[in-house]
Amino acid sequence: MASYTLSQMGKTKLCFEGFQYVKNKVRGDKTYWRCSKRICGGRAITEDNAGELFDIKTTKEHCHLPEGEEDEDDMDDYESDDDFEMDVSFHSDVHQDTPFRDKNLKDNPLMANSLKEAPSLAVDAVHVKSNPILDGVTVKGYDFNKGVDYEALLKTYYRCGFQATNFGKAVEEINRMITKKHEEIPADKQDKLNLNPCGREKTNCTIFLGYTSNLISSGVREVIRYLAEHNMVDCIVTTAGGIEEDFIKCLAHTYLGDFSLKGAELREKGLNRIGNLLVPNDNYCKFEDWIMPILDQLLKEQNDEGIVWTPSKLIHRLGKEIDHPESVYYWAYKNNIPVFCPAITDGSLGDMLYFHSYKNPGLVLDIIEDIRRINSQAVLAINTGMIILGGGLVKHHTCNANLMRNGADYSVYINTASEFDGSDSGASPDEAVSWGKIKKTATPVKLCSEATLVFPLIVAETFAKREMEFK
Ligand SMILES: NC(=O)c1ccc[n+]([C@@H]2O[C@H](COP(=O)([O-])OP(=O)(O)OC[C@H]3O[C@@H](n4cnc5c(N)ncnc54)[C@H](O)[C@@H]3O)[C@@H](O)[C@H]2O)c1
Repeated sequence: MASYTLSQMGKTKLCFEGFQYVKNKVRGDKTYWRCSKRICGGRAITEDNAGELFDIKTTKEHCHLPEGEEDEDDMDDYESDDDFEMDVSFHSDVHQDTPFRDKNLKDNPLMANSLKEAPSLAVDAVHVKSNPILDGVTVKGYDFNKGVDYEALLKTYYRCGFQATNFGKAVEEINRMITKKHEEIPADKQDKLNLNPCGREKTNCTIFLGYTSNLISSGVREVIRYLAEHNMVDCIVTTAGGIEEDFIKCLAHTYLGDFSLKGAELREKGLNRIGNLLVPNDNYCKFEDWIMPILDQLLKEQNDEGIVWTPSKLIHRLGKEIDHPESVYYWAYKNNIPVFCPAITDGSLGDMLYFHSYKNPGLVLDIIEDIRRINSQAVLAINTGMIILGGGLVKHHTCNANLMRNGADYSVYINTASEFDGSDSGASPDEAVSWGKIKKTATPVKLCSEATLVFPLIVAETFAKREMEFK
């Protein structure tokens, strides 16, 4: 027997076979009802017949017993809802496959518990108590209401988070290198003899600078030239392109291009692309014209005077020959900063050495003497710092030299490589600690960034600000 009743909220309820239903929707002369128990999928349809009689059809099973036969406390119903009459058609079917239709609901402790209050597991998980962060640095960025002040803006990077924080840490680490460099050498380390095979004046911290070739192709060259000009670093490591592109730039220009320029069209025009830079092929012809007579002369000195040439001695000599204040290696020559390039043949320089070996054979470059020279820079140093832009050879060669002293004291990596592939380029400073390339006690920094974006700013916040200390 079916009947209607009113809820506490004054809404119509359908009573049928011991179950109560609330109105779900009305379509034409059909009224769709859902069980008043909130979690039950029971459904009924009534058909109005001249306002008096109605046919009832139940369409879905209930997940609880009829009224009077169930534990009343077990289930929440729609009674307390102001708007339990839902005229939302999708609600009529939405619960049909849910686990709440399980008739053995009372046997499921998680479900039964969830009816009255949130599961304690979830509550405890969300409400875990915090330990106080002692001496914690709060996160805060730059407020442009203070105007456009680049120096102040860069100062906020440390507290900004993510790679901006690593930028701030890199600045601090490099400033520690500089401070250490200018400290007096401890008395017990002031050897009478300067055993440095490159004859550089000893300081309390030997700073190694490594960078990939493309950075000399880019405008970072001018930043590196500034460091060499002011004798701010003690040892340079780069690849072949990082040598030749510096000299070529003294002979002809490199131009801005675009990453999307088509290789086939550029080839037709004799233009070589490095990222979004363009180097006319003629530049390399000028380089050949410049370097070939120098290689002839080196061969002559090798044969006449017994000079053993090495890549670093060749670069030193080329820096002297270029005699150009815009050149990094001119200043490296002037300030006696050794430049190491063990893969010197992997670039246009290699092409020149190859052609020269036919034209005027016999020139020899000794890389073993150079490995002694660079390793000695590290072994004989009192403290060392490494600033490495990019990865590959320049990163490993610099780190490996520092392995010879059981690790660098200060380190900053700036590169775009990630470590998931196991590459040395992407390896974290902590991996280098495991090899003894960085000291266990050091506070190294890896800044994940493209170097042209950040290195000029880092130099602005470190070496450039402290230029007077290098006089
Ligand atoms: N202009 C040139 O790039 C040029 C010219 C002639 C020859 N070459 C030769 O190509 C070979 C490979 O060059 P390479 O060993 O100098 O380095 P690379 O260009 O192969 O770079 C090595 C890694 O350094 C990182 N890196 C490179 N550029 C970066 C940047 N701008 N910012 C941050 N991270 C960066 C990347 O992780 C990259 O995988 C060398 O033997 C070099 O002599 C290069």
